[in-house]
Amino acid sequence: MKEVRVFPTAEAMSRHAAEEIVRLAEEAAGVSGRFTLVLSGGSTPRQTYALMADDHSLRERMPWSRTHFFWGDERLVPPDHPDSNYRMAYEAMLSKVQIPSEDVHRIAGEHQDATQAADEYERVLAEFFKLGRGELPFFDLVLLGLGPDGHVASLFPGTVALRERQRLVVANWVEQLDAERITMTPPVLSHAACVIFLVSGAEKAAALKAVLEPGAESKRLPAQRIRPQRGRLIWLADREAARLLEGHPESPA
Ligand code: 6PG
Repeated sequence: MKEVRVFPTAEAMSRHAAEEIVRLAEEAAGVSGRFTLVLSGGSTPRQTYALMADDHSLRERMPWSRTHFFWGDERLVPPDHPDSNYRMAYEAMLSKVQIPSEDVHRIAGEHQDATQAADEYERVLAEFFKLGRGELPFFDLVLLGLGPDGHVASLFPGTVALRERQRLVVANWVEQLDAERITMTPPVLSHAACVIFLVSGAEKAAALKAVLEPGAESKRLPAQRIRPQRGRLIWLADREAARLLEGHPESPA
């Protein structure tokens, strides 16, 4: 079952997302003693991350010391590079709160070889979740963004990682960017108690429409491969991104 919630502004959407993340974190930490969170890259979630650390009430409620941070994808750059997804989350949120460094499980984008970085991250996941052969990690929450071409994490249209069924994390050559990315695979990104997409801006409107209200002729986009079987799927969008949708009036603030 998927839910779609539309907000008048990106700011309202970000606040709702931050509140939702903190609520899910409190719930999971209360039940199991920990909260496993996969962060998204790109620029849309920056405001959400910043609110979690800057807003007094959210910051106080968030069980920081029981949260484990993971990343759904990474660029092949060092952690202090402006393009690093880790750096974005670090600057907006992680640098502002006390978190044991061993609870921040970043993808080592500084490797020369993306395959090596992917293999290493797969081992990080296998060790943390104590995975047996063929098992998938099960996250409390996966955050994702949507590209104007329908990409999600670093799963771009036409790339080989979309067909991956065995591996947890792979190196993915993205012709469109002329670059290699490191990304979790569709089965892993779908294996969560909750998946939340954050989508903002008019340039995402056509992709959002194609993903949520596909026509009979529509091509299948990467974001449509994210289908949690054992969890909820929530789409948060601002008015601009949602302007082509038919069935989704704005949610009450
Ligand atoms: C990345 C991503 C990517 C992102 C979308 C949306 O590393 O770039 O994880 O999938 O979420 O491209 O990006 P924006 O939020 O910047 O529009």
